[in-house]
Amino acid sequence: MSTWQEREARVYMQTGRRQPVTLVKGQGLRVWDDAGKEYLDFVGGWAVNTLGHCHPAMVKAIEEQARTLFLASNQFYTTPQIELAELLVANSCLQRVFIANSGAEANEGAVKLARKWGKLHRKGAYEVITALNSFHGRTLAMVSATGNPHYQEPYEPIPAGFLNVPYNDIEAIKRVTTHRTCAVMLEPVQGEAGVIIPAKDYLKQVRAWCDEQGLLLILDEVQTGVGRLGTMFGYQQAGVEPDVMTLGKGLGGGVPIAAFLAKESAAVLTPGDHGSTYGGNPLVCHVAKTVVQYVLAHNVLDNVRKNGERLQQGFRKLQAEFPFIQEVRGRGLLQAVQFTQDISADVLTAANQEGLLLNAPRPNTLRFMPPLVISAAEVDEGLAKFSAALAKAGSARKLL
Ligand SMILES: Cc1ncc(COP(=O)(O)O)c(C=O)c1O
Repeated sequence: MSTWQEREARVYMQTGRRQPVTLVKGQGLRVWDDAGKEYLDFVGGWAVNTLGHCHPAMVKAIEEQARTLFLASNQFYTTPQIELAELLVANSCLQRVFIANSGAEANEGAVKLARKWGKLHRKGAYEVITALNSFHGRTLAMVSATGNPHYQEPYEPIPAGFLNVPYNDIEAIKRVTTHRTCAVMLEPVQGEAGVIIPAKDYLKQVRAWCDEQGLLLILDEVQTGVGRLGTMFGYQQAGVEPDVMTLGKGLGGGVPIAAFLAKESAAVLTPGDHGSTYGGNPLVCHVAKTVVQYVLAHNVLDNVRKNGERLQQGFRKLQAEFPFIQEVRGRGLLQAVQFTQDISADVLTAANQEGLLLNAPRPNTLRFMPPLVISAAEVDEGLAKFSAALAKAGSARKLL
């Protein structure tokens, strides 16, 4: 254990399991640990580092805004907030924006909006239908929304008003819809569950049901938004428009920012209903605006589609070589490799040794979410390191 890791163990709350790697520096797709070892980063801050580490455009934006205005409270108008909101509206199907600080907080805002909408338009309906194995964040209400007992049980009683039903099952949503329901909230692709892609028509069926019943459709695009799947937003691939959408992660490319957006018809919040001290501050808004503009102006979506495909093809070749790869799935640069056994941790450790950082959302599944600016050469380098890690872990477990 390095001294940093010993120091952490003494003072930091042990709320999660970390890899034994202490990162001190990043540039592009690469990061370095405190011993100077270089890694290729296919975790990307959990789908956050849209433009990679320390991208010059982001560094410039931070410098510019740090010299101009950090934060001035939402008692006043600030220009980067308005410009970012305009940019999001111009490039999505939504017309109103509220800027928050984290994905969970953006989702909380979306649910508050849905409850107010239920009061105004559905006689006080307040329940939100969400999916099992979803992930919507760690606040108390969002652990209720997140359909996973592991996140809920330690905090019971959890807030009422959320019904978790199987994903990719329209009948399950229909069965629990009542006069109390105000909204359905779903991820277009379930990220934390291990990159679960619903059937082609699922979101269309949900949209139709929401229209028929007068419910809001909230899409949590905290992980899928801002290009991750190869389109600006995931809803574009599903062929539906949400009434409300949440963003986070890749929106700021590494600075803490998130947002919820609504159609004009659903934007029922009025002065006094919601607020935030840090939400929408000039510093992060200027950076997020720079990130979104960069994605739009530099063919980044094209790159995501091309190199996402290259990565997936590479995994398929490895599947022929390593029989313990059960399934390869994903869209754009949100990809997963599922194994026949629970060997994610072994492969992860072997990958660290090879100089490749990976994420394991499930004991039998690895998730790949590198920066959206990854090059073909970096995809190939990552695949070569991954192949070496599979060989090492596979032979140690006698799977080869
Ligand atoms: C789909 C989705 N929603 C919400 C969140 C929570 O975001 P945050 O950790 O910024 O609160 C995440 C985080 O992984 C996510 O993947």
